[in-house]
Amino acid sequence: ETDPLVVFTPSGKRGRFPAGTPVLQAARQLGVDLDSVCGGRGICSKCQITPSYGDFPKHGVTVRDGALTEWNAVEQRYKDKRGLKEGRRLGCQARIEGDVVIDVPPESQVHRQVVRKAADARAVAMDPATRLHFIEVDEPDMHEPTGDLERIGRALKAQWDIARVTVAMPVLRGLQTVLRKGNWQVTVALHTPREGAVPQITAIWPGLREGGLHGLAIDLGSTTIAAHLTSLETGAVIASSGVMNPQIRFGEDLMSRVSYAMMNPSGAVDMTAAVLEAIDGLATAIAAEAGVERETIVETVFVCNPVMHHLLLGIDPVELGQAPFALATSDPVTLDAATLGLKALPASAQIYILPCIAGHVGADAAAVALSEQPGQSDDLALIVDVGTNAEILLGDKTRVLACSSPTGPAFEGAQISSGQRAAPGAIEAIRIDPVTKEPRFKVIGCDKWSDEEGFWQETAQSGITGICGSGIIEAVAEMRMAGLLDPSGLVGSAAATGTDRCIPEGRTHAYLIHDASAAGGPRITVTQGDIRAIQLAKSALYAGARLLMDERGVDKVDRVVLAGAFGAHISPLHAMVLGMIPDVPLDKVTSAGNAAGTGARIALCSREARADVERIVRQITKVETAIEPRFQEHFVNANAIPHATDPFPELAK
Ligand code: FES
Repeated sequence: ETDPLVVFTPSGKRGRFPAGTPVLQAARQLGVDLDSVCGGRGICSKCQITPSYGDFPKHGVTVRDGALTEWNAVEQRYKDKRGLKEGRRLGCQARIEGDVVIDVPPESQVHRQVVRKAADARAVAMDPATRLHFIEVDEPDMHEPTGDLERIGRALKAQWDIARVTVAMPVLRGLQTVLRKGNWQVTVALHTPREGAVPQITAIWPGLREGGLHGLAIDLGSTTIAAHLTSLETGAVIASSGVMNPQIRFGEDLMSRVSYAMMNPSGAVDMTAAVLEAIDGLATAIAAEAGVERETIVETVFVCNPVMHHLLLGIDPVELGQAPFALATSDPVTLDAATLGLKALPASAQIYILPCIAGHVGADAAAVALSEQPGQSDDLALIVDVGTNAEILLGDKTRVLACSSPTGPAFEGAQISSGQRAAPGAIEAIRIDPVTKEPRFKVIGCDKWSDEEGFWQETAQSGITGICGSGIIEAVAEMRMAGLLDPSGLVGSAAATGTDRCIPEGRTHAYLIHDASAAGGPRITVTQGDIRAIQLAKSALYAGARLLMDERGVDKVDRVVLAGAFGAHISPLHAMVLGMIPDVPLDKVTSAGNAAGTGARIALCSREARADVERIVRQITKVETAIEPRFQEHFVNANAIPHATDPFPELAK
């Protein structure tokens, strides 16, 4: 008589096992992805499976009643006390008796697919570096003088087949107390940076640790710091939050922060302290908001530009301010929270900082490359991550190039006379009637009084406080389309434009969008200075893109991806009218949202993704805008709206 046949779904893995084999053991032998924290003791319920009964011609199996053993006492006790969904069994307790088809539901899979990559919607499987293991440890014995840690090691060997472990110092300090509190039963968090590496115990809890582990994916920008608290079990984002980067008080943009470090003996140290304090505050707030214990935040991933990277790590960024822009290291950096100087996270929480691409192209660009995968693209994709500094990637399957371009903070509403962050009261979109030259707009946080398209006429009650990045981009493009601006970016007079919304301002003119000054409210104009700031920013962006196109030997791209927190809000038409991006069919311009943040989250959830980004970064060709003479030439030509020489045939359509 042959042994029973077991077929696992959805993997389709199958094999024969002697009657009486636990389902969990069969799964392990076949390499089926079935979770366990308690190691088969019937207490963690991570190993839940669903047996199916009946005829399965597809699998060539008929499953009869009794294919799995009856409920044993352990399984019954779990069901009575904690409950199990209809049809579910504990894989570690149910044993195989006859041919059977067993489904492993997504929540029982360690490597379930979770994070979706934006560009091609490929899913990323969970493969967290830190996992929980419950163990029963021998009590100390006068006759066998071994240490508590050594007996933990023995338990891991015997119960989990883990040959060797190391321990983080803060964990060792608390080890004896936890062991005794747990009555020699503990759950350890093991951090294994890559398959086959020696795991490190980075956390320990008495008894069985219920509830999962968490991680933070942090996008450390020069203007804002955004954090996503993520479940390391499911990959789901539990809470997101952001704060301003307090280093702004030392300098708005990157180079001014580098000069601050050069000019002030304690400059770099002060900036490091400021950012660490802000991250601590953010981590504390986000954990509290989500009701998550901070001690369960065992992993944190950072993405950031090279200057932020060095200042985070306490490395003086002075070399990044001068050619040849040498990084202290471009490799990924791994360290623990205590070494980094974070106080809000457990001391042994593991930090992973993505690799940098080059002296000006940082881990944030690497994260965009991880999330958008230009190297997998069949057509030539231009990806721009728009922020205070623009990260630009151009590539397809054959080759990927990257550069960064100093756009300055104008795209984020800074250095704009009525500029503000994208917050309630900000004009985020605007239309100017080409005939009457009257504006209509969308204001964040106000949804009253809108027309069918969601735009408003001017009203004193609108609650407008300013204009944000996407609003100012649209305003400049709309002014150009309505004939209020000439191609050089000069605002016309009332006489020339036929509207008294073009008001004199000093020796130039400004376009009056909104005037509530009679009622003590704001008066919002787009000034000549604002137009110039946007022109500089968009020229830098365009010139960076053109430089990569030169390098690649093309004068057209197939598609454009706008990334960055506000990339999602930029209208493709307006971006092109302005000449921010090269000519491309409008339906080939897509938004990837916060691609750097997505890349950080992917790296947080998957060790394989970390290996992937490390490989991607090695293959990217770096182009240094600061020393490339053609950059200046492209920059000057790109100052016109949309451009002095490059044609924009798509705009004529
Ligand atoms: Fe923990 Fe089955 S493995 S309950």
